[in-house]
Amino acid sequence: MGRKFFVGGNWKCNGTGEEVKKIVTTLNEAEVPSEDVVEVVVSPPFVFLPLVKSLLRSDFHVSAQNCWVRKGGAFTGEVSAEMLVNLGIPWVILGHSERRALLNESNEFVGDKVAYALSQGLKVIACVGETLEQRESGSTVAVVAAQTKAIADKVSNWENVVLAYEPVWAIGTGKVATPVQAQEVHVELRKWLHNNVGAEVAASTRIIYGGSVNGANCKELATQPDLDGFLVGGASLKLEFIDIIKSAT
Ligand code: G3P
Repeated sequence: MGRKFFVGGNWKCNGTGEEVKKIVTTLNEAEVPSEDVVEVVVSPPFVFLPLVKSLLRSDFHVSAQNCWVRKGGAFTGEVSAEMLVNLGIPWVILGHSERRALLNESNEFVGDKVAYALSQGLKVIACVGETLEQRESGSTVAVVAAQTKAIADKVSNWENVVLAYEPVWAIGTGKVATPVQAQEVHVELRKWLHNNVGAEVAASTRIIYGGSVNGANCKELATQPDLDGFLVGGASLKLEFIDIIKSAT
């Protein structure tokens, strides 16, 4: 199954207006494979979504880093899926481990968020991943399977879902998963989709890796058969993000 390579850039809580303009200028000037080969999605903080969308090249796309779990209303501080759609933002990252840990977003809550965002027409980068303690106790597959199940319990149509495996112990640490470690979990996730959702979804759903990806380690990671791209944090704010896009196979 030909799965288009996917490279996401998660800018997290970073940037000023001037810095964002410089990053977008660099992205706009970059020579990269065509969008037939690689799908590029950048996720600035909410406050820069209109600016990035207005300046970014047309073959790259914009994503939010989160959205609310239901229709907007008396939910102070939240941004609804409808608002993102109204802004013309096609993608949203949901279930990032930083939100699961810092804001106690449960598996079920993330599943509800993914379902609601899809119902409003958004495309979703859904994040799963285990902590170091969970890996060291041998429960990696059980953990990411439970996180994926919580999504599958609420979502039947996976065509607009990209699954991001982001081992928590690799995020922001410089301790990138080895290609073997990444492939081991990606193939287990694809097997879980095959056995619990269906063969077509398993074959077509892109499973991307995130956690200390950079210009030096992306090429070897990209050779893994069940690794369909990356969700990049720190390196997405740097020139090496272009190298990561070019690692598309
Ligand atoms: O969402 C991607 C992010 O969690 C990975 O962060 O800085 O390890 O690439 P980083």
